[in-house]
Amino acid sequence: MRARAIIAAAVVAVAMTLTGCGASRPAATDMVATDIASEGKPLIVYFSHAGDNYLVGNVDTGNTAIVARQIAEMTGGDTFEIKTSRYDGKTKRELRGISKEESEKGELPEYEGDVDVSGYKVIFIGGPIWHGTYPRVVFTFMRRHDLNGKTIVPFATSEGSGLGRTVEDVEGAYPRAKVVGAFSIKGHKVRGDKASVEAWIRGMGY
Ligand SMILES: Cc1cc2nc3c(=O)[nH]c(=O)nc-3n(C[C@H](O)[C@H](O)[C@H](O)COP(=O)(O)O)c2cc1C
Repeated sequence: MRARAIIAAAVVAVAMTLTGCGASRPAATDMVATDIASEGKPLIVYFSHAGDNYLVGNVDTGNTAIVARQIAEMTGGDTFEIKTSRYDGKTKRELRGISKEESEKGELPEYEGDVDVSGYKVIFIGGPIWHGTYPRVVFTFMRRHDLNGKTIVPFATSEGSGLGRTVEDVEGAYPRAKVVGAFSIKGHKVRGDKASVEAWIRGMGY
C-alpha cells in the first residue's frame, strides 16, 4: 500500500515536471531567511482549493490552507483567505482545463471580500502551484494591493514544481519589496509534516 502511494507520488511529480509545470526551484526553503519577526505581526494571505486534489483525494481543507493556519499559529499573525466559488465542486481534471485557460488568457478572477494591508510590514503570500505558478486569483490580489516597501514571504504547496515561478512573479509584481524566505512543501505531505513548516518559521526569528 505504502509502495503504491510512493509510486503514485513519483508519477505525479514526474508528470507535473514534464508537462511544463516548471521545476525551476527546489522543493524547500531556497532563499536566505532573515530575522523578520521583529517587523511586527504578519499577515498571511493565501488561496487554497478544497475538494478533489492530487494524491490527497477529496479534502475538506486544502493543503495550502493547512500550512497557512500553521504559519498563523506559529507567528501569531492574521490570515486572509482569497476565496472564490469559481472552482467549487470541480474535479482536478476539470480544474486543470479551467485554470490553464485562465493562465493563457491572463485572467484576473474576482475574489470575495478584501483586507486592509496597510498595518502590516510582513506579508506571507501562499497558494498551490497551478501550471507552474500561483492560481490567477492570487494575481488578482497582487494587482489590487501595492506591497512595495513591505517584506514578502512567498510559500507554496505543489507536487513536483517546488515554488515554480512564484518568487519571480512576486518580485515582478513588487520590484521595491523585500522578498525573502520562500518555502514550498509537497501538498500530500502537509498533514504529516508540521515540523518542516516549524523549522522554516523559527528560522525567521518567530
Ligand atoms: C489545476 C491544478 C494544477 C496543478 N498544477 C501543478 C503544477 O504545475 N505543479 C505541481 O507541482 N503541482 C500542481 N498541482 C498540484 C497542486 O499544486 C498541489 O496538489 C497543491 O498542494 C494543492 O494545494 P491546495 O490544496 O491548497 O489547493 C496542480 C493542481 C491542480 C488542481
